[in-house]
Amino acid sequence: MELNVENISLHLDLKHPIKCIFVSDIHFDGYWEKGGRKIHKCPPELLNQIKLYVDYHNPEILFIGGDLMDDCNSNPYPFFSWLNDLKADHIYMVLGNHDLDNNGYKACTEDILLASNVYFGFNSHVRILRDEEVKLDNYGLRVIGIDDYTTGSFPCLCLDYPDDTTPTIVLSHNPDTYELIQEGIDKNHRLFLFGHTHGHQSNFIGKAQFISLLKFLNKFKLFRKFFHSDSQIQRWIKCTKYDKYVSGLYEEYYHHVYVSQGIGTHPPGRYNCPPTLTVFEFD
Ligand SMILES: [Fe+2]
Repeated sequence: MELNVENISLHLDLKHPIKCIFVSDIHFDGYWEKGGRKIHKCPPELLNQIKLYVDYHNPEILFIGGDLMDDCNSNPYPFFSWLNDLKADHIYMVLGNHDLDNNGYKACTEDILLASNVYFGFNSHVRILRDEEVKLDNYGLRVIGIDDYTTGSFPCLCLDYPDDTTPTIVLSHNPDTYELIQEGIDKNHRLFLFGHTHGHQSNFIGKAQFISLLKFLNKFKLFRKFFHSDSQIQRWIKCTKYDKYVSGLYEEYYHHVYVSQGIGTHPPGRYNCPPTLTVFEFD
């Protein structure tokens, strides 16, 4: 599977230009079975391609927008071992719904946090930001990471941080978050980075979107047997409430909102929506 690379330049009023890379929804350990075959949600060749791009660009910051792991019966250490080999000055991550105890997913949060601390320690250049901020004074940048809002900890304390004039990037998993917090967020919060939607994975006709279709079918009780309350489809429907921000860059008031199409793939697969790595040039 070929990795799609998107290049975006944005003016954030930083002290000097920096390069950042954003990926989301790696689902490192995820797989499904098809015809007796094991299909990885994130195949090793994609991980290799990400490493090649990150090492080539050697970004000041690598952002990862959550769903680091998938269903979490597995061991998170291989993920952090892979991360440890990437050439980036800083790596900031948030946890997604698959990384948190939510909607019946098995909780692996503690295992992920422990593995991260074993590899990188608490205050290193690699951090999982859980409703907290990091100030990078040499770039003139503040980064805020927010836990997935469907996990019950929302609204997060970081919204109460005293405002200053530092340009800020907000990283979280679910783009619905922007709908919930946009009022009262000042213009110093220049960019919001999200994942979660996987770009809806299958775009058959222009902007026709897979989950929108599922919601429509669900609403009119069509194909009812696929929509029982424990189904994966119901989880997808519940997890994207507003469905406004799906993929790419949106301009809202003073803010830029960017949603990654993600790296990992849920069954049945992707169509016209490749796994995407985004290279940002900020100045
Ligand atoms: Fe995901």
